[in-house]
Amino acid sequence: MYHIRKFREDDIYDVFRIAFENLTERYSLDLIRDIYHAWPDGFFVAELVDVVGFIAGSKYGKNARILMLAVDEPYRGKGVGTALLNRFLLSCKSEGIETVSLEVRVNNYSAIRFYTNRGFQIVSRVENYYSNGDPAYIMWRMI
Ligand SMILES: CC(C)(COP(=O)(O)OP(=O)(O)OC[C@H]1O[C@@H](n2cnc3c(N)ncnc32)[C@H](O)[C@@H]1OP(=O)(O)O)[C@@H](O)C(=O)NCCC(=O)NCCS
Repeated sequence: MYHIRKFREDDIYDVFRIAFENLTERYSLDLIRDIYHAWPDGFFVAELVDVVGFIAGSKYGKNARILMLAVDEPYRGKGVGTALLNRFLLSCKSEGIETVSLEVRVNNYSAIRFYTNRGFQIVSRVENYYSNGDPAYIMWRMI
């Protein structure tokens, strides 16, 4: 069984590895640290024996944004991503946040399906969003 807990600074190398292996954009240790310090209550990890997934977000006024969500491949399809998302949404709710948005690559069909099944809808498309020029969908839901 995994459990979801708040990120601690000594999780940084696990999170860096998971981001490197599972996300297409590159995130430096400094950037991950900055994201954490900007909103410590919006950063969670899923721990089995090791950390196998994480979610990190930012907030502005009554909107939160999911910046990164990733689960190591062998642990996918077991509810870890859903548990991370739910913990993040709970934290948003307790801070009075009303909406959550995120960007997802338009060809990341499994992530789009994941978010759609969890109440998000596509609201717009941004050309040249990713560093390789790929477009993104912006997805959005109310808390
Ligand atoms: C998107 C992601 C975080 C979901 O994590 P997860 O732990 O697999 O999520 P869950 O197990 O809670 O749910 C996965 C869904 O896929 C289904 N599924 C079944 N087997 C699966 C598998 N082997 N891999 C992925 N999903 C699977 C689940 O049944 C569930 O379907 P549902 O939406 O109909 O309920 C994960 O796939 C991932 O890390 N992807 C790569 C990184 C990425 O694209 N991140 C999002 C960028 S914005």
